[in-house]
Amino acid sequence: MTPPSAPPGRRIRGRLAIGTSLLALTIALLTAGPQAPSAHAAGACTSTADCLSKMTLAEKAGQMTQAANVYISNKQDVATYGLGSVLSGGGGGPSGAGGTASQWADMVDSYQSYALQSRLGIPILYGVDAVHGNNNVQGAVLFPHNIGMGASRDAALVQSEEDVTRQEVLGTGIRWAFAPCVCVPRDDRWGRTYEGFGEDPSIVSPLAAAAVQGFQGSALGPTSVMATAKHYLGDGGTTFGTGSSGYLIDQGDTRLSEADLRAIHLPPYQSAVSAGVGSVMVSYSSWNGQKMHGDQYLITNVLKGELGFKGIVVSDWAGIKQLPDSTYAGQVAHAVNAGIDMIMVPDNYVETINDIVADVNSGLIPQSRVDDAVTRILNAKFALGLFGHPYTDRTYTAQVGSGAHRAVARKAVSESLVLLKNSNSALPLSKTGSYSIVVGGKSADDLGNQSGGWSITWQGSSGTNTTGTTFWQALQQATAGTGITLTNVGTRTKGRYSADVGIWVGGETPYAEGKGDSSTLAFGSDNSSQLSDICSHVKTCIAILYSGRPVVISDQLPKAQAFVAGWLPGTEGEGITDVLFGSGFTGKLPVSWPNAVTDEPINSGDGKTPLFPLGYGLAPY
Ligand code: GLC
Repeated sequence: MTPPSAPPGRRIRGRLAIGTSLLALTIALLTAGPQAPSAHAAGACTSTADCLSKMTLAEKAGQMTQAANVYISNKQDVATYGLGSVLSGGGGGPSGAGGTASQWADMVDSYQSYALQSRLGIPILYGVDAVHGNNNVQGAVLFPHNIGMGASRDAALVQSEEDVTRQEVLGTGIRWAFAPCVCVPRDDRWGRTYEGFGEDPSIVSPLAAAAVQGFQGSALGPTSVMATAKHYLGDGGTTFGTGSSGYLIDQGDTRLSEADLRAIHLPPYQSAVSAGVGSVMVSYSSWNGQKMHGDQYLITNVLKGELGFKGIVVSDWAGIKQLPDSTYAGQVAHAVNAGIDMIMVPDNYVETINDIVADVNSGLIPQSRVDDAVTRILNAKFALGLFGHPYTDRTYTAQVGSGAHRAVARKAVSESLVLLKNSNSALPLSKTGSYSIVVGGKSADDLGNQSGGWSITWQGSSGTNTTGTTFWQALQQATAGTGITLTNVGTRTKGRYSADVGIWVGGETPYAEGKGDSSTLAFGSDNSSQLSDICSHVKTCIAILYSGRPVVISDQLPKAQAFVAGWLPGTEGEGITDVLFGSGFTGKLPVSWPNAVTDEPINSGDGKTPLFPLGYGLAPY
């Protein structure tokens, strides 16, 4: 019934989503009855213990199973098998990638209406990657990726960010976010570096707790979105060259002593667990050659035992299929016995349920392990109030992308910027007097480049992919009514033009996960020549770099009087112009900046001398 599993490293997301979602929609239209009313009270059971006592083994296995929407060709399966959860992977919208908040809410409510038709009427927990805002949704506010939030060092700001994201996720009917990533990226060549707050646990831990509080509040309740600390454990510590699925470093092997693993990578989980995080996602990576998805010691003994984690441990997308067991049933048993409570399948969910049942019947999985997993899942569903209020509260839907939400992101952008160089007081720019500014570079007027990966689609894309304000648009707004004249040369930086000030905006183009692994951290020849061109036409030159990590800029720095690390700011470009025109830089580097790629891995305390150290950031005004 379900499409075959995509080969590792080529996981199908948005591309397949178009076809299967249309199919699913057609089938749903043919088979669906009228949707249940929004105030419907779900559930033929009234507490975790009550539900557990009424459930068959197959129903328990269903609760432990999470299917991706793009692989559910018949929504009736949600009712028939009593699925515990449905997720949208990157780009998995209502009809392919994108979709408005209300279209998302309709989709999620539709899945929910099937869950409520299951024998016990247990609602599903719908999950999504809301990693910098509710980033799959057209018109949602996109915040700076975590590396920029790490540069702010501002826990209150991170909490506000995730409080806004909570509301924008609630507006789509979703109650579970696969965020925050509390990874500690130690090698900037990793394609997920930008998903982390920084290279040192002392930066990550307080922001992890703040993020959890923003999503959940002080405890899981009826207006919470359940947060997920990911990816447990050591995802940011993999050794270059060990990446699995054809990647260079992503999903690789973290080769560290237990003492170092605990010292560098565990503290953010302690912090997230203390803040009450509802779920933890297991990492694709290995620790000293052993896949994390099968590591009973780290999942059960350390996370659930030592750290006292009482929530849901969820596997990563098809992560259990990377376990070394020779059969899928063996992989299922290995993962569940290691301590995984919910399996992010995402495709062969019927087989998964059947295998959990068979593994219990054959004694491979203890019944007590299944009961513990289902208890954790049902506890979360009751705490979130899903049984009483399973459907979207549409008052939140109307607020997705609101001006108030954008204002929080704008402030976050301002606080994320790090000033690396400022010769001759090139910055701040003045709003008084008459002078000319020429703008150029491939990202000056490109919302997709400004937002990076995990933006509408899994990988993100260049161009206008959602609603927001590019740097160029923000500059036009900021200078309206002043004596400043503006020109935008885009990528046509050669030719005849001149100006008092030049502003180049360029850098990396979007990527996500292992597809962003880099063996060079190269600045790029197009960026290099465009920056040179602009700077050679003006008196004062300012470079604004969009990148998910430090790239090699040693040869570029001398070209411009001012150099700004802008990270991946998201949809609110005014946050940049606010700072350029005088609100001041406060961001500090959350990572050590290498001189050359041969410095990698480079981290504070390792004795190497970076181009700019951890914590660096000028604040001249
Ligand atoms: C991915 C990621 C994980 C994400 C999941 C669901 O492969 O590793 O961060 O939450 O899939 O999209």
